[in-house]
Amino acid sequence: MEKILIADFGSQVTQLIARRLRAHQFLAEIIPFHKLAEVFYAGGDGNIRGVILSGGPASVLSPDAPAVEKKLLNDIIEAHIPILGICYGQQLLAHLLGGKVSPGTTREFGLANIRVVADSPLFKNYNATKVWMSHGDHVATLPKDFVAMAVSDGAPFAIMGNEAQKIYGMQFHPEVSHTDQGDIMLKNFAADICAMQPNWQMADMIPEMTAAIRKKVGNRKIIAGLSGGVDSSVAAILTAAALQENTKPGNPPQMTCILVDHGLLRANEGDEVQKALAPYPHLDVRLINAEDKFLSALRDVIDPEQKRKIIGKLFIEVFEAEAKKIVGDSTEEKFLLQGTLYPDVIESVSVSGAPSATIKSHHNVGGLPEKMNFSLLEPLRMLFKDEVRLLGRALGLPDGLINRHPFPGPGLAIRVMGEVTREHCDILRLADSIYIDQIKKFGLYDKIWQAFAVLLPIQTVGVMGDGRTYEKVLALRAVTSQDGMTADSFYFPEDFIKTTTTRLVNEVKGISRVVLDITSKPPATIEWE
Ligand code: XMP
Repeated sequence: MEKILIADFGSQVTQLIARRLRAHQFLAEIIPFHKLAEVFYAGGDGNIRGVILSGGPASVLSPDAPAVEKKLLNDIIEAHIPILGICYGQQLLAHLLGGKVSPGTTREFGLANIRVVADSPLFKNYNATKVWMSHGDHVATLPKDFVAMAVSDGAPFAIMGNEAQKIYGMQFHPEVSHTDQGDIMLKNFAADICAMQPNWQMADMIPEMTAAIRKKVGNRKIIAGLSGGVDSSVAAILTAAALQENTKPGNPPQMTCILVDHGLLRANEGDEVQKALAPYPHLDVRLINAEDKFLSALRDVIDPEQKRKIIGKLFIEVFEAEAKKIVGDSTEEKFLLQGTLYPDVIESVSVSGAPSATIKSHHNVGGLPEKMNFSLLEPLRMLFKDEVRLLGRALGLPDGLINRHPFPGPGLAIRVMGEVTREHCDILRLADSIYIDQIKKFGLYDKIWQAFAVLLPIQTVGVMGDGRTYEKVLALRAVTSQDGMTADSFYFPEDFIKTTTTRLVNEVKGISRVVLDITSKPPATIEWE
C-alpha cells in the first residue's frame, strides 16, 4: 500500500504527524531516522510516495546531531519523491542542501502568525494564520533554488520550498492542534504533492498489528485485564484475532481475560464485553465476582483518596491471585495485555539511537507487571482514542461498547458520596442506568463526553401519594470535554429534565429529590470525589 515514510528525529509529537495523515486516510509509517536509508533503499515495494523528516530536540549545528547522509537525501530527490521537513527536519534540509542554519539565542516557543507568500498546492484550502513554533535554531539562508513560501514576524522562512523538486520545510509544527489547519497542509502534501489516493482505513492496520502481536508473543501465555471499557476490550479482541492462527484444536487457551467485578461497575457492565468475546471460543474469559471483598474493605470509609487506595490495592490482589492460577510459578516469559493508548505514553527521547519511546504505562492493574514478572503487551500504544474506536468497529465490536462514556477505575465508589454500601450501589446503579437510558432516548449520548448520576449522603423531605417521605438526593452530571482535563456542563432540554426526573423518582426506591450539577471544570472536577 502506498505510504509516506516519517523519519523520526525524536520530537515528542512525531506520532501526531502520522495520526493527522491517517485521519485523512493516508498511510504514514514512522521509522527511526537512522533506518531511513535501509528502508528507502529496500524500496518499500515501490510504495514510498513521500518522506517527512520530523522535528527533534537536537541542533543540526552540533557535531553529533542526528542526521541522514547527504547522498541519501539526493537519492530521494532523484527518485522524485517529495520531501517535507518539519522544524528540525527543515533545518536539516537547509543544512544538507547548502543553506545556512543559525543558532537561536532564545527559543521561540508558542503561537505565531504566518503569512503565505507563494503559490503552492501545499496551500490548497488553507486560509489560516496561527501556527505553533517550538525551536531554537532557525534557517538563516535558503538553499539554492528554494524560496520563502510563508513568513512570520520571527521567521522569514516559516515555510521554505522548492516547488520544482517538491521539497518543503516548515519551521513550525503543522501536526499539533494549536496550529490552525495544519492538517490541511499535511493532507495537501500527501494528496497533491505526493499524489496519493486517500484510501487507507483503520481496518488496513489489522493484519500488520495482529502479525506484530504474533511475532512478539509466539505461543507464550497472555493475561488480559478487562475493565468493561473500550480500550481494554479492543486490545483483547485484537489479540484474540491475532491468536486465532496459533490455535490448534485441543490446545489450552493461550490468552485468559480477567474481568474483576468489584461490585462498583455500571449496570450490565462486563456483559457486553463477554458477549463481544464470545466469537473467540479459544479464549478463556473469567468474570471474578469480588463484590463482597471490596464492599467489606470499604465499610465505614468516606474519604475519597482512601477509597481509591483500598480499591487499587485490592484490585491488584484479586487480579494477581487469579493470574497465579493461570501461570503458576512458571519462569517462562508471559505477557500482560494492556489497552495503553498513545496519550498514556510519555516519550523520552534519546537522540543517539532510535528516538526511544519509553513508557510510563497507564497501569490499569498497577504494579503487577513488575511483581509477577510480566512483559507488557500494548498493541494500541501508537493509537489515539478515536482511532481505537475505529479499530474496534473494524473488529466488529458493538457500537454500544465502543461509544461508551469513560468510567473511572474506582467505579461507583467515588459516585456514592460517603459510605459505600451494597444498597447505595444498587440505588445508584439503577438510577444511573435510567439516566443514561433517557439520554440515549433523546439522542444525546454521543453529544456528551461523560454523564453519570451521583448519590448524595443526605436525606430530604418529600411527598409521594399521601405520605411524607424522607429519602436520598440524586445529582445528575453531564459534561462535554475533549480529554477530561477541562469540561463544560452540558445543558439538557427542559423536556428531558422533566421526564427524567419523573422517571427517577418513580422508578428508583430511595430517592425523593433530583438536582442538576451545572458546574464546569475548573473550578469543579468532573467526578464529585
Ligand atoms: P476529574 O474528576 O478529575 O475526572 O475531573 C477527569 C476524568 O478522569 C476520570 N477519573 C478517574 N479515572 N481513576 C480513573 O481511572 C480515578 O481514580 C479517576 N478519577 C477521575 C473521570 O471519570 C473523568 O473521566
